[in-house]
Amino acid sequence: MIIAVDGPAASGKGTIARALARHYGLPHLDTGLLYRAVAANVQRLELDPSVEADAVAACDFDDSLLDDPMLRSDAIGSLASVVSAHPLVRASLLQRQKRFAQQPGGAVLDGRDIGTVIAPNAEAKLFVRATPNIRAKRRHAELRSHGSPISIDKVLADIRARDLRDSTRSNAPLVPANDAAFLDTSFLSIEASVQRAIDIVESRIARD
Ligand code: CDP
Ligand code: CDP
Repeated sequence: MIIAVDGPAASGKGTIARALARHYGLPHLDTGLLYRAVAANVQRLELDPSVEADAVAACDFDDSLLDDPMLRSDAIGSLASVVSAHPLVRASLLQRQKRFAQQPGGAVLDGRDIGTVIAPNAEAKLFVRATPNIRAKRRHAELRSHGSPISIDKVLADIRARDLRDSTRSNAPLVPANDAAFLDTSFLSIEASVQRAIDIVESRIARD
């Protein structure tokens, strides 16, 4: 069983994907981390994120980078959204994600294009949403708890810029798959969001 979880920044997709993976005993891949690693590598190598060839050169990163807490920063999230718009960057990360999705036994992946590009045949597809203000509040609390002095206004502005860039790029934009189920977490606790996600997956399995 493949479960695809897509949605914008801080909608709750990672939390939901991790919980689904635990619930069904499946491996989980946070695909955003791959783009964040490319972004961190661009920064480390002092390359230009808007130049496709530079961003492609940064795709060759060491997997140990995926565990680096600096990948979670707001600046790296924004930079990830710039490098991820380059078709050759997406192409370079494609096979790794497809392989993960197609491993025997199944998998849960979360990102922006899982239901549309990485695993279009997924048994269950969720598109997780929440209002920009609520997402900014959540991400701000997260960043603050990790010691960042960032303001909520900056977090909201960055989220809005990222939403726009991610949903308007021509290659694998952030759009719900035709057969995705919507899950709005704006006014749901984490527990309620996870339960709702399990209910959706169960109804998809029952339907097939
Ligand atoms: O956790 P959050 O939603 O804030 O970000 P993320 O999932 O780590 O993704 C960071 C950036 O990577 C996004 O803004 C997208 O531009 C890009 N991304 C993508 O293009 N495709 C994916 N499957 C996952 C992330
Ligand atoms: O992966 P994504 O960027 O979509 O979001 P996340 O990392 O799963 O969630 C962002 C923050 O919102 C985390 O601190 C979650 O604990 C929190 N959250 C929440 O407060 N209520 C929910 N219903 C879902 C997530």
